[in-house]
Amino acid sequence: MIRVTVAGDENAAARTTAERIADGIQQALAERGVAHIALSGGHTPAETYRLLPRFVRDWSNVHVWLGDERCVPLDDPESNWNLVTRTLLSQPLDPPPHTHPVPGVDGDPQQAAAAYERELRATVPGDPPRLDVALQGLGEDGHTASLFPEDPALEERERWVVAVHGAKAPFDRVTFTLPVLRAARKIVVLAEGAGKAWAIGAMQSGPNPRVPASLLAEGTDVELIADHGSAPS
Ligand code: 6PG
Repeated sequence: MIRVTVAGDENAAARTTAERIADGIQQALAERGVAHIALSGGHTPAETYRLLPRFVRDWSNVHVWLGDERCVPLDDPESNWNLVTRTLLSQPLDPPPHTHPVPGVDGDPQQAAAAYERELRATVPGDPPRLDVALQGLGEDGHTASLFPEDPALEERERWVVAVHGAKAPFDRVTFTLPVLRAARKIVVLAEGAGKAWAIGAMQSGPNPRVPASLLAEGTDVELIADHGSAPS
């Protein structure tokens, strides 16, 4: 099921999203003593990541993953890890979290995907591995992570991380597959601005491979956080 939360504006949406991530972390630490969160890339979540340290003080047992990554060097402005570093990890988190950038992501995408899957399987319990929080973005075409409309990766049920040649530059990417994203204990989709309004409406019209974000909620719950610009009228 998809539950929609409409925040007043982009700043309110970012704050609400940071609060949800922090809630997921606190619950995981209370229940298991460790929290695994997967963050998304793009531009939308930057303010959320900047705000997060206001809500999470102790990062020593938090593991930060990426739900997807572009196959570019980590110091490339287009790198999702670069986004997380610039906005969250560059803040004085003491002690810092455990960090999981995609190994070799600027090399062969298939090898990078296989290496990330090995790291995920070795670190996060469950089959598929159960993250505590999956923060997802939403593309104007309805993609999420690097799962693009009608991509064969949407059908993947054995591998937890795959390489794709996506529809958004940088085109070569590594992405968690749907079984991993759906297994997360808390799935939050953050979508801001009028450009996302169609995709928000489309993802609520039932599971559709032409709208990959609509497939996140199959068998689980998703909270979609929108602002007035993106919220369906
Ligand atoms: C990426 C993403 C992708 C992103 C959406 C929204 O690597 O691009 O993880 O799924 O979240 O495309 O991107 P914006 O926030 O830039 O609109």
